[in-house]
Amino acid sequence: MTTSLHVERRLPADFLADSLRADALAGLTATPKSLPPKWFYDAAGSELFEKITALPEYYPTRAEREILQAVAPQIAAASRAATLVELGSGSSEKTRLLIDALRTAGTLHRYVPVDVSEQALLAAASALFSDYPGLEVSGVVSDFEDYLAGPAEDGAADGPRLVAFIGSTIGNLLPDERATFLARVRAGLAAGDRLLLGTDLVKDPAVLVAAYDDEAGITAAFNKNVLLVLNHELGADFDLDRFEHVARWDPDREWIEMRLRSAGVQTVRLPAIDLTVEFADGEEMRTEVSAKFRPDGVVRELTAAGFELEHWWTDREERFGLSLAGPA
Ligand code: AVJ
Repeated sequence: MTTSLHVERRLPADFLADSLRADALAGLTATPKSLPPKWFYDAAGSELFEKITALPEYYPTRAEREILQAVAPQIAAASRAATLVELGSGSSEKTRLLIDALRTAGTLHRYVPVDVSEQALLAAASALFSDYPGLEVSGVVSDFEDYLAGPAEDGAADGPRLVAFIGSTIGNLLPDERATFLARVRAGLAAGDRLLLGTDLVKDPAVLVAAYDDEAGITAAFNKNVLLVLNHELGADFDLDRFEHVARWDPDREWIEMRLRSAGVQTVRLPAIDLTVEFADGEEMRTEVSAKFRPDGVVRELTAAGFELEHWWTDREERFGLSLAGPA
C-alpha cells in the first residue's frame, strides 16, 4: 500500500498579491463599491470563520453535518469513489464523515483537498494524513475555479471520483458564475464520477439574518477582517471603527448580502495600488453574497450544467440540502 502526503502549489508566485490588487482596484472604484468574499480568508479570517461555524445562530454547518452523519454510507455506496476531490476544503472537518464512510466501504485511496489558503490546507492535509494510515493525501493550493481549468490528473485512472463542494460555498458565487462553475465541474467528470453539492435553503428571513449578524459580533469581525487584509497587504489605512457590519436579506434575489457601512465621510488611502477612495456617510460596500436555494432551483441549475440528480437529502428541519449528481 502506498502512503504519501503531498501538497502542491498551483498558484504562480505573486498570484494572491496580484489578484488582490486587481480586485481591490476594480471593487473600490466601482459604483457601488464591492470586494469579493475570497479575501476574508487569511489566517485570522479562517479562524474567525471556524468560530462562526460554532455560533448558536449559524445553523448551516450543524445542519450539513447532521445530513452527512445520516447519509455518508449511502454516498459511499452510490459513488464507490476511489478519489475524493474537495473544492474549498478549509479545515476538512465535515469531510471526515465522508472519508470514514468511503474507507469503511473500502473504495477510497486518495483525498485531494483544494484550497487557496496554504495554512489551512497544510494543517488539514497533515492531520488527515496521520489519522488515516494508507490514505494518499494530495493537496492542491489553488483557487478552485483555476483548479478546474487544469487537466484532471487527480486520479481518474484507478476508479470513480467524487467531487465534493460542500458548506454552501456555491452560494458565494453570483448566478452566472454558478452556471459557469457547474459546467466546468461537469466537463471534468467522466461517466461514473459524482458531484456532492451542499446548498443552504431559503427560510424565515429572521433566521437567515441572525445567522449573518450574531449577538457575539463574530460575523461583524469576520466581515471587517477584509479591511485588515487590505491594510496588511496593500498598506491601506481603513479605520475598522468607522465601518459598521450590515447583513441584509434580498427577497427578490433570495440571497443574504453582507456589507460594510461607512460611519461618516472618510478618505482611505491604498498606497500599493496608488488609490485614494472617498466614502460618503452611510455608504455601503458589498463584501459577500450568500445565496439561499430552493430544491427545484438546485435541480434546474444542475440539469442546465449537464448533471442528473441521483439523491437529494435535507436535515430534519429542512434547513440545508445535499445533492449527489452524476453526468446526465
Ligand atoms: C460557508 C463560506 C459559504 O456564505 O455562509 C459565514 C461564509 N459568511 N458567515 C456563508 C460566511 C458569513 C459562508 N460560507
